[in-house]
Amino acid sequence: MKTYLLNNIFYILIYTLPALAQNNLQFDSAKYETLSQDFEGKTIKVRAFEKIIYVSHPVDSTLEILNIYIPEGYFSGETINNYNSETAPIFFPNRIGGFMPAQPIFFINPPQNGRGNSQQSNAILMALSKGFIVASAGARGKTTPTGKAPAGIVDLKAAIRYLKFNDKLMAGDANKIISNGTSAGGAMSTLLGSTGNHPDYEPFLNALGAANATDDIFAVSAYCPITNLENADMAYEWQLNKIHSYNFRGKSGNLDTETLKISDDLKAAFPSYFNGLNLKNNEGKKLKLNKNGEGNFKKLVLSYLVLSAQKALNDGLDLSKHGFLKIKNNIVLSVDFDGYMNYLERMKTPPAFDGLNNNSFENHLFGNEKIDYRHFTDFSFKNSKTTNPQMAEIQQIKMMNPMNYISDKSSKIVQHWRIRHGAKDKDTGFAISIILATKLQNEGFNVDLAFPWEKPHSGDYDLEELFTWIDNICKK
Ligand code: DHB
Repeated sequence: MKTYLLNNIFYILIYTLPALAQNNLQFDSAKYETLSQDFEGKTIKVRAFEKIIYVSHPVDSTLEILNIYIPEGYFSGETINNYNSETAPIFFPNRIGGFMPAQPIFFINPPQNGRGNSQQSNAILMALSKGFIVASAGARGKTTPTGKAPAGIVDLKAAIRYLKFNDKLMAGDANKIISNGTSAGGAMSTLLGSTGNHPDYEPFLNALGAANATDDIFAVSAYCPITNLENADMAYEWQLNKIHSYNFRGKSGNLDTETLKISDDLKAAFPSYFNGLNLKNNEGKKLKLNKNGEGNFKKLVLSYLVLSAQKALNDGLDLSKHGFLKIKNNIVLSVDFDGYMNYLERMKTPPAFDGLNNNSFENHLFGNEKIDYRHFTDFSFKNSKTTNPQMAEIQQIKMMNPMNYISDKSSKIVQHWRIRHGAKDKDTGFAISIILATKLQNEGFNVDLAFPWEKPHSGDYDLEELFTWIDNICKK
């Protein structure tokens, strides 16, 4: 009798505990504040559900929080921009910068933790004015032992699971989540888009007690994503090998002989990486580079710059001062690669990401709970200038690169992608965004990639165009 009872209690516990644990992940529609702000001559009134802890076992409950803003009109049956409380898509912006810890975006008075700018506040106000629900999640970052890769992306995925788990209890359509981010945050956005429900992340999500739901999303918007990190050093030198002076956030100088040799080596290694991707152009022809780094891929990169200059010209900009552009009758005929790179300039010294001194943003990202900074490329590990260099695990590196998941059938990949990479952005090579976009296109996904003229490393600068794109894909 006693064993029978104990057995029963045991079974009741193991079956009900997980359900109870998920109970605290239920969206509470009564717990809100009404807030309003003026935007473009209109008052935006929302129900604000702030600082919701989106996992059952948070590691950092100051960061693993979600802010949800719902246009007040949806509670009285209004239709906004042809959306209603059932159909409104969910705009999911993050404010991750430099792979640092980041709080979510706040409707009013953004806290300082994370990339913060008025454009991001405008993005959420514009989203709300156009009838979107806004959900913004905070995430752990590289400066804490428990925030190393892949913590940031795991957190964002857990927040997506929370939204999908609560779809029925919340206004909005959790099958229409559009992620948005810039730089490291843009990289996170591309990861959300490429790793939907992938088993690699499952143990991490389980450990956090993420809600019992899927984490694939509907669309990706990414500005200047700092991604494909383990190949980004080669791409950077392929592009900037001839530029021998640098200016890294105010610290400038010239590359010395030793560093020039590193640039040459990395540049020389790029074609074999690139050719191994087996990418095709839109005519179905294989994209290639010869051992000097010349070939039709370079032409593809230049074609994006031609389009960029053409758009600037059409918008009325005077481009006549740029000797590297060949323009006739208001048509941009060509861009000279070397001339363009002279104008662009170099920001980082080689290797741009996996620093030989093991002290870059990305070395910090690839640490672990015990070691703060680690290498993540064979090249920098072998050439490391540190005593006792350490290498990150293959799996950790893999989980931060969308390129590793795009052909993987275990991933649910987003159909709609919008990538913007400023034509004056020198934080990473143009090839990184073009390779990502081409790989996605080759796999049949819909990608809108452009390099806005003169835009430096930044995001959210073309919100009208962004929301037109989002509206179009949501209403298809
Ligand atoms: C960011 C910029 C970088 O140059 C980099 O290497 C990593 C992140 C950023 O702005 O988020």
